[in-house]
Amino acid sequence: MAPPAAESAGTASNDKSNVVPYSVMKLADSKMDVPEKFVKSTGERPTVAYNDYCKEIPVISLKGINSSNADRARIVSEIGLACAEWGIFQVVDHGISEELMAKMMANSLDFFKLPLEEKLKYATKPGGFPVGYASGSHRSDDDILDWRELMVHRTLPSSIREQDINIWPQFPVTYREVLADYSDNVDRLVTSLLGLISESLGLPTDYIKNAVGGENTEQKILANYYPQCPQPDLTLGLRSHTDYGTITILQQEVGGLQAYKEDRDLWVTVEPIPGALVVNLGDQIQILSNAKYCSVEHQAVVNSNETRLTLVVFANPNSLSLMGPALELLSEENPAKYRNYTFKDYLPICYAKQSKKHYDALAI
Ligand code: OGA
Ligand code: NI
Repeated sequence: MAPPAAESAGTASNDKSNVVPYSVMKLADSKMDVPEKFVKSTGERPTVAYNDYCKEIPVISLKGINSSNADRARIVSEIGLACAEWGIFQVVDHGISEELMAKMMANSLDFFKLPLEEKLKYATKPGGFPVGYASGSHRSDDDILDWRELMVHRTLPSSIREQDINIWPQFPVTYREVLADYSDNVDRLVTSLLGLISESLGLPTDYIKNAVGGENTEQKILANYYPQCPQPDLTLGLRSHTDYGTITILQQEVGGLQAYKEDRDLWVTVEPIPGALVVNLGDQIQILSNAKYCSVEHQAVVNSNETRLTLVVFANPNSLSLMGPALELLSEENPAKYRNYTFKDYLPICYAKQSKKHYDALAI
């Protein structure tokens, strides 16, 4: 989540167990002013509305990805441009059925609508690995909270899924089955996208997938529930951050996701397109590409008209993966901009909250 990237699902929080200090949903129902705990400093507040969409963010069709060379070459070139220019884009014809996407949305919505006491049965445990339900923040040391409730699951590799599936909700009855199905489908899409991104860098198709741990890469799925907010100009659904992993795939039906376009010093809002999925690059792609591609800073704004639910799939390296700029891309003219590290050593950097741009800590 933010500083630690969203999913980031935060620190194993320490002493104070205030991971669910407020139900944001209850606050929203009460229609009172936004409590001070949620009021962001003036510099952090939103400057662009949730529905003021930027039409330039690329929308790429993956149709023909496995057919003729011409189709694949077109897609690789579009992906390369989108990664270099934006770090965020949308994909259509991605192979994940609208039916599965809708089922995931419906099940998550049913979960958030449960009474608070029920949701608290899944609350993130202080000190443990941050999985489960939280409200406002999953970090116990946050001064200012975000206008959201969240639910995080560890879904891959399968050894971890088998361990965690017993703590996933059983209501609605299809919750576990649909989540596992969505996880597998998005994992396949991620493998395809990493292949396209590798090719766009002039690397072998399986280069990035292998670099992040092959079949042992990790995946988390996060549902963010942003209730409508009486004063959306004062707060954020999710503070600005970069995602610390490899890539992120997001599903949304209502606007609110914004990316910071650094060269224009402007926040741009991603338009919800039925059936499309948003892809944003994480820190690991920025580092691996030696900053040819960018891990885009992004945030979520809320609104006073409607509630918003997003489903976010984080593809992360295996914790033992050795990361750093791809040697094949380096030369005298393009020396390494970051030092090498093991992925598990990256997380403490993110949690330290020193900079929004965690990768700066590795800059040479
Ligand atoms: C995230 C994230 C944005 C959104 O969870 O990391 O950036 O619109 N979410 O929910
Ligand atoms: Ni994010």
